[in-house]
Amino acid sequence: MADLHVVILAAGKGTRMKSARPKVLHRVAGLPMIEHVLAAATALQPRSTTLVVGHQADSVRAALLGHAGVTFVVQEPQLGTGHALLTTEPIFRGAAGTLVLLSGDVPLLSAKTLKSLVDRHESAGAAATVVTAILEQPHGYGRIVRTGRQIARIVEERDATPAEREITEINAGIYAFALDGLFTALTGIATENAQGEYYLPDIVALFRERGRGVETLTVTDADEIRGINSRLELAAVSRIVRQTKNQALMAAGVTIEDPATTYVDPHVEIGPDTIVHPGVSLEGHTTIGSGCEVHSGVRIVDSRVGDRVIILNHCVITDSTIENDAAVGPFAHFRRHAVVSERAHVGNFVEMKNTVLGAGSKSMHLSYLGDARIGVDVNIGAGTITCNYDGVNKSQTTIEDGAFVGSDTQLIAPVTVGKGAYVGSGTTVREDVPAGALAVSAGKQRNIDGWAAERKKKR
Ligand code: UD1
Ligand code: CA
Repeated sequence: MADLHVVILAAGKGTRMKSARPKVLHRVAGLPMIEHVLAAATALQPRSTTLVVGHQADSVRAALLGHAGVTFVVQEPQLGTGHALLTTEPIFRGAAGTLVLLSGDVPLLSAKTLKSLVDRHESAGAAATVVTAILEQPHGYGRIVRTGRQIARIVEERDATPAEREITEINAGIYAFALDGLFTALTGIATENAQGEYYLPDIVALFRERGRGVETLTVTDADEIRGINSRLELAAVSRIVRQTKNQALMAAGVTIEDPATTYVDPHVEIGPDTIVHPGVSLEGHTTIGSGCEVHSGVRIVDSRVGDRVIILNHCVITDSTIENDAAVGPFAHFRRHAVVSERAHVGNFVEMKNTVLGAGSKSMHLSYLGDARIGVDVNIGAGTITCNYDGVNKSQTTIEDGAFVGSDTQLIAPVTVGKGAYVGSGTTVREDVPAGALAVSAGKQRNIDGWAAERKKKR
């Protein structure tokens, strides 16, 4: 195989998105669309990867800081796709081999298709190979004009005659080029078109006029090459990714009651016999075990859920862990390293942050548990609050195994409730409670007989 180089075009303004954000940073299935393109490029193991940036170049660059080995080239001003590729010329001076050109706004292209593109291109010894697709509704795409079986040229929608607009074979905007002679040919592209831009697709006609071979690769799954130019197309492409993911999960034994309203990011894993109800969103690097039930309105981000866990409606779970046989919700909130251990129960309106709730422990109603270490078989009464923040520092609360914390209790951290200790309802715990002790802080109750009747008389 010849030396392989990848260039990705991402300098355009994305006018049709009507967005302050660069188009290639809009998210498809949780990831900026450019990340999808980079992943496909990486699978080719190219010798170099170059990203052409321009409009809001700095934000695009900043978003991709984590990608080692990507070279950025700035196209300024942006005079069209042909001009964009031309700006990379200094990088390829003296280089030979194959250049694969990708569009930053075509995120679903598979690595498999890209490999077929390179194979087809190199075995034919072509100057250019164009990826095409047959679309029932080709509106908006460049059309492939053939003479006989040979591709003759590509015409953009805006420049096409009514007859050319009838053509259903479209240009995917993905190409393989022989580096030899590529940049010389690019300088021959003119701007005589509706947009006054240098159109990269014009290189096809140029090569053909010069007797150089141009090949095509027509994809069987046209969904792969859908481009994103508008919010409508963003939604359509996202839907395709979602459908593919949901289908794979169902094939692997997950029940998804309503795939149309279930949002599962590509990296999420779910075990068999887990049931996912409508309106659930599972994001990032979340894993869910088998035999779980996730009810409507739940959102889980970058979290781990064990086996046989029940998550009732409207829980929000981020960066947290729910272990085997636990049950949580409805309306619980777990964030920043909350851990609900095996068989533990958490009920409605409980928030846990950086807190471990031990095995078999319960916090069923209306509590805030932050920066706490809670042992096994502990009962946390309704309305318990760990007061972990004094305005300057965050401090830890420790509640040891078997302790019983009564309702409406405040635990002023740092503080420890010892093993098997009791905290009476309504107590403000400012000092450690020894193991086995009962802590009460409220004063003695006073009853004033007849008070209510007296009050009525005064009115
Ligand atoms: C382009 C093709 C069209 C094809 C379609 C497939 C051209 C002229 N037309 O149209 O034949 O059917 O893709 O999706 O190429 N870009 C730059 N610099 C520029 C202009 C664009 O880097 O000066 C980048 C954009 O950021 C984008 C890509 O090139 O990532 C394609 O540009 P876009 O304007 O979206 O082209 P289309 O009109 O979709
Ligand atoms: Ca486009």
